[in-house]
Amino acid sequence: MFLSVSIAFFCFASGVLTNSLITPCKVSDLVCVDKSIKGAIPKILVGIPELGVESSDPIFVDQIDGNLSIIKYKFFNTTITGFKNCEISNFKLNEDITAIKYDLNCPKISLIGKYEVSGRLIVLPVEGSGDFQLITGKYSLHVDSELKKGTGSDGKTHISIKNFKLKSKALSPIKFDFKNLFNGQKDLSDAVHKFANENWFEVSELVQEPTWNACIKKVTTNVNKYLKNVALEDIVLQ
Ligand SMILES: *[C@@H]1O[C@H](CO)[C@@H](O)[C@H](O)[C@H]1NC(C)=O
Ligand SMILES: *[C@@H]1O[C@H](CO)[C@@H](O)[C@H](O)[C@H]1NC(C)=O
Repeated sequence: MFLSVSIAFFCFASGVLTNSLITPCKVSDLVCVDKSIKGAIPKILVGIPELGVESSDPIFVDQIDGNLSIIKYKFFNTTITGFKNCEISNFKLNEDITAIKYDLNCPKISLIGKYEVSGRLIVLPVEGSGDFQLITGKYSLHVDSELKKGTGSDGKTHISIKNFKLKSKALSPIKFDFKNLFNGQKDLSDAVHKFANENWFEVSELVQEPTWNACIKKVTTNVNKYLKNVALEDIVLQ
């Protein structure tokens, strides 16, 4: 008796959540789609434990591999904070629901963890391992995704995000703080920090891609967990 009441309550609770997050729209009703997505995304980013959707702020990533041609870096146990404050804009869903595009405009993202680096930071050699912190200013991330349709365990059609392409751009200075560069040799470390802080845009262009890819991959996984709970017919009006 207690069990069936609990199950009924759980189904009711999750039904309410699913229905209230994404307002149903016709795909052609751009105003409705835009409003619905802008309303739902912040709640999905915060996380919905009842539906198994992890929080996207903070994000934790065990390892990020920056295997670039002139500089190799690894970030370990990185905590990334700030995604829930990103604003979504230019959201476009194509008519046959096979692709989406949007921009994330983030006021500030902070990353904290451990690093290993070896190579050249544009003109300066750089080498070291230790604790790091990166604090960005405004950042713009443009995400382009294909969607996939499939049949869920409920027999209904569900969509998921199949992949993404990312273009990112730093719009204001970034603070770089890498402890123990060159085994703690202060002069060399100061020179690298000065260079990175002054040339934040060029440095970000060189190193950003693997890091943002890892973040958006996590966010995509979280959004897909949410989408498993939502049948297409419940959010798309004919
Ligand atoms: C890093 O990239 C190079 C090619 O640039 C490749 O040969 C190598 O296997 C890669 N290493 C890792 C650990 O992915
Ligand atoms: C990352 O965290 C795990 C679990 O706490 C720990 O075992 C590992 O040593 C950490 N990695 C680094 C590079 O500190």
